Amino acid sequence: MVYYIHMTIDYIHLTTVDSTNNWVKAHASDLKSMTCVMAEEQTAGRGRFSRQWLSPRGLNIYATLYFTLEGHPSYVANIGEIMAFSCTAILRNEQFPAHLKWPNDILIEKKKVGGVLTETVAFEKQLGVVVGIGLNVNMEANLLDQIDQPATSLAAYCGKKWDLQKLLSQIMDRFAQDLSLLQKRGFQPFQEQFNAWLAYKGEKIVCGAVQGICHGISSEGKLDLLLPSGEHRFLSSGEITTSSQKQ
Ligand code: BTN
Repeated sequence: MVYYIHMTIDYIHLTTVDSTNNWVKAHASDLKSMTCVMAEEQTAGRGRFSRQWLSPRGLNIYATLYFTLEGHPSYVANIGEIMAFSCTAILRNEQFPAHLKWPNDILIEKKKVGGVLTETVAFEKQLGVVVGIGLNVNMEANLLDQIDQPATSLAAYCGKKWDLQKLLSQIMDRFAQDLSLLQKRGFQPFQEQFNAWLAYKGEKIVCGAVQGICHGISSEGKLDLLLPSGEHRFLSSGEITTSSQKQ
């Protein structure tokens, strides 16, 4: 039997904001679970490791999904990975050869097209989860060149402009379904597909201070690195670099 769980997502559209993640954190106590806040532009868009996220007006998706959870379940650690997974699934449905750079970057031809920034807000009995997603959609080459790492956009890859709102609701609907599976069964149901879409699999990589071969992603969503000693090291956070990558 196939059944669908429909979670209603409220949308809030902002014209200009510093960062949709900042806005959501500031308004968290007034927001319904689940609310997606999107902005036309961000004046101080943030990436992981306090990096800037280039957010020119009207060209890309800058959005933050807010929802609450009871307590602090262990799967919170996987939420960013799952948002990147859901986005990759939608891009693949649209025929893009999207890959996942663990933990939550989305690549096309090894260039970054999207990223996820997950933060939390603690309430007395609940946890507010703030999942920001940036996806380069209609940004052109001159702006992509201003990004401090190899980057692309959907339009730069395929030559066609995309409807931002339509794409965003597809990603959010898919994430709502994936989240519900994560809540019921943990990361394990995603492991095989995540590994099939994983960038750098079998390649020599560095993550933090650890160097090894990217063996894959574990059933808990950790990076499985094969060390020169033959031992496996499982990492739960960090950033992958390869010798060919410009930093
Ligand atoms: C990364 O890859 O480093 C994460 C990038 C996340 C960017 C998005 S854009 C919407 C939301 N608001 C922010 O300031 N950042 C996230």
